[in-house]
Amino acid sequence: MSTKKELSVSAIQEGTVIDHIPAEYLFKVIRILGLDNCSNLITFGTNLGSSKFGKKAIIKVADKFFKDDEINKIALVAKEARLNIIKDYEVVEKKLVHIESEIIGIARCFNPKCITNNQEVTTRLLLVEKEPLAYKCHYCEKITTEEHLEII
Ligand code: CTP
Ligand code: ZN
Repeated sequence: MSTKKELSVSAIQEGTVIDHIPAEYLFKVIRILGLDNCSNLITFGTNLGSSKFGKKAIIKVADKFFKDDEINKIALVAKEARLNIIKDYEVVEKKLVHIESEIIGIARCFNPKCITNNQEVTTRLLLVEKEPLAYKCHYCEKITTEEHLEII
């Protein structure tokens, strides 16, 4: 079983493996984490079979250990993601991602008239509901629900 996984994306010596990303959100996760501007060695695989999620993606970032608040940003699109911290080829820690109570500058407010959609103001959304996700805008107080959540 694990042989199949190892063949898909090779093991890393040090760093972070982000597993169980829904395949359709791989590139959003890359953008949220700023990996498109990261000079570390990064490997990824997508449309890998997963018994739980249908198709999943995996990202391996060598020599990178994310801070919790940094990694929690991906909960917006990949709540089921699992992190594996790798040191000297061994998995030394497994972590889940957690939905934070406030998100700043990652997602858009749904209200087209909101100041954040019309001026250079960073969005600030407060969590009001976890399942499905719903956020209230700090500025206009309008609610943005999960299906309208747009990553900036
Ligand atoms: N991994 C890696 N490099 C290593 C060790 C592990 O890239 N040196 C990856 C594995 O390929 C796997 C993930 O880290 O995708 C977790 O490794 P492991 O816990 O050994 O795998 P599983 O037991 O399959 O974990 P889980 O059931 O939590 O997915
Ligand atoms: Zn707003």
